[in-house]
Amino acid sequence: MRAADIDIDISGQGSSPGLAAASEALLLARDFPQMRERLLTGGVANVTEERAAWHSALRAPAPTEEIAAERQRLNAFVRMADSERRWRNIVHIGIGGSDWGVRLAVSAFGYAGTWRQVHFVANIDGHAIEGGLAGFDPHDTLIVLASKSFTTAETLQNGQRAIEWLQGSGVSDPYQQVVAITARPDVAREWGVPDTHIFKFWDWVGGRFSLWSAVSLTTALAVSADVVAGMQAGAAAMDAHFAEAPFAENAPVQMALSGIVNRSVLDYGSLNIAPYDFRLANLVPYIQQLEMESLGKSVNLAGEPVGVPTGPAVWGMPGTDAQHTFFQWLHQGSDGAPVDFIVCQHADHGWPEHHKSLLANCLAQREALLTGKSFEEVLQDSLNEGVPEERARWLAHHKVHAGGRPSNLIVLPRLSPYTLGALLALYEHKVFVQAVIWGINPFDQWGVEYGKMLAKGIAGELSGKAADPKHDASTTHWVKRFKESLR
Ligand code: F6P
Repeated sequence: MRAADIDIDISGQGSSPGLAAASEALLLARDFPQMRERLLTGGVANVTEERAAWHSALRAPAPTEEIAAERQRLNAFVRMADSERRWRNIVHIGIGGSDWGVRLAVSAFGYAGTWRQVHFVANIDGHAIEGGLAGFDPHDTLIVLASKSFTTAETLQNGQRAIEWLQGSGVSDPYQQVVAITARPDVAREWGVPDTHIFKFWDWVGGRFSLWSAVSLTTALAVSADVVAGMQAGAAAMDAHFAEAPFAENAPVQMALSGIVNRSVLDYGSLNIAPYDFRLANLVPYIQQLEMESLGKSVNLAGEPVGVPTGPAVWGMPGTDAQHTFFQWLHQGSDGAPVDFIVCQHADHGWPEHHKSLLANCLAQREALLTGKSFEEVLQDSLNEGVPEERARWLAHHKVHAGGRPSNLIVLPRLSPYTLGALLALYEHKVFVQAVIWGINPFDQWGVEYGKMLAKGIAGELSGKAADPKHDASTTHWVKRFKESLR
């Protein structure tokens, strides 16, 4: 299958004419065409929060006037900064969707260095902001605050520290070195960020899709506005493929269906992402958030239990590092996991031998998982090597590879902004199709919100508020103990 210049080989997944017919019937029974239409045209796709999930509008080749105007403002800001050679350093402060996509793009296209140095600060752990500011000249540093809600504790606390750092460094007008990207420009304004430094996005952009909004300012400053435009074009091409291709040739649909079989029928609890590309290390956490925040639900739209296992745990690491870390578990562990192998046909460095080895490793691992090696084969290997039969038979039990472990092979012609954008949209739409089939809302994250609320309460208690009597005994103990040490 080919979509937006990407080849997607799903021959490593179970298939049969019966399964294809049943899958199509299931999609129609779930009103998939109507749901897709609602998603792509800005209808209320996020029903629990009563809003659209219209991130595709941000990358449309012919965007609305409002979106086009904000894109132009952002590009003008980047042109101004570049022409004046301003801000050699950027501290990008944001978390989750306001962080991973930008980190991914900057490491994918700036892996060999960028003329602006970028530090990403997401974690609320003070060591993160300490490291993020360290070594930077405050007079030549831009602080980018990326937060859709402008209420996220991590981003606000880290942002406060960064502004204090500018103020304490004798910078003449610290807020001229602060930019805010948010759906709440009013709050950013209250913080003191000047209007010309506030880039807006809209409430209908889900947090984990912020990459497509002005949050990409840091990408543009670090690796160019062309990268941002290229990623948008690739994602838009994948949107068009998703909207138009028949089910049997629709890459997100087909990937979604095999994912459902792997999870809900074959009971695989996780999905491994194996990018055979050093530049794509941050793809793993990006897809992790996309899949797990979206599909980590077990109640359907009617509020009833889904009844089958839903979204898998997503994990991974670039190959070949992964081969020396956890691939043994994939090959011979008792559980195993489906693997998405992602690789570029052409490399952008000048050492063809390296790329040959990378490609060979990628294909070899996939083949081993797929076809395995039988008892008879490994036994024969040992006998051929002259191992005595009794030992060879014993050894063979250890060397058997069951095979039959499902995988996808996703081949990009090369890593370009276009293909990376298309790849991200491929996963976005795959996740959407799975949500439609499982009948869940992929656009909310009540579990995350609950965790945030509890953390806020406990932070208050650590600052002196009365302890919540509803805490369990262990939490009560540790709140008391930490409070004493924080005095
Ligand atoms: O983790 C929950 C979440 O709401 C994500 O969906 C989002 O990407 C992240 O927090 C950051 O949110 P914000 O951009 O509003 O600071």
